[in-house]
Amino acid sequence: MDKVKILGISGSSRKGSFNSALLRAAADLLPERAGLEVADVSGLPLFNQDRESDPPEEVKRLKQQIRESDAILFATPEYNYSTSALLKNAIEWANRPSSDNAWDGKPAAIMSASTAARGGARAQLHLRQIMVDLNMFPINRPQVYVANAREAFDSELRLVDERYRATLKGLLAALVEWADRLKARQAEIPLNA
Ligand SMILES: Cc1cc2nc3c(=O)[nH]c(=O)nc-3n(C[C@H](O)[C@H](O)[C@H](O)COP(=O)(O)O)c2cc1C
Repeated sequence: MDKVKILGISGSSRKGSFNSALLRAAADLLPERAGLEVADVSGLPLFNQDRESDPPEEVKRLKQQIRESDAILFATPEYNYSTSALLKNAIEWANRPSSDNAWDGKPAAIMSASTAARGGARAQLHLRQIMVDLNMFPINRPQVYVANAREAFDSELRLVDERYRATLKGLLAALVEWADRLKARQAEIPLNA
């Protein structure tokens, strides 16, 4: 079977970001037949609809990375009960123009880490709502909300909490299985048929 190509995107550009660290932990916990590439969206300019038909090179590259992947793995911080502007900005660029939505039909998983007790649960819900418009297909379970992130990661930003490691491993296995199922189905019935 072909390797399942997962594209990871962190919604934080902070040097010590727990969400970017969560993506690094995911790279360690992948099923053998999956690979993870991480797209850096921290340098994208702010979305401007005047440029959607002829976007900057880094946006074209991002859209190509999305198209070449079999599944998307979002790691979102929670800012003011929502996802971050950084992630939303990347989402907007790759969603436009509407005839060229790179997210269309992609299987996906969401995870989040927060220094607070809710672990980013509200950001995940907002992101799910956005994904309806993108026509993405996120899995529902297991849910990876890393709460009190300062305790779940060590000083080198390694995910050390075994319960979260186990749940994250389950999320990745479920994502790979979901990507396989959608791909097989899509071969039978194309999404835009
Ligand atoms: C502008 C701002 C708003 C935040 N709002 C929330 C919030 O609504 N809920 C929450 O759990 N944490 C909130 N936090 C704390 C973040 O979850 C925490 O800073 C987290 O570490 C950010 O992710 P990162 O480590 O990947 O950068 C907020 C932080 C910032 C800077």
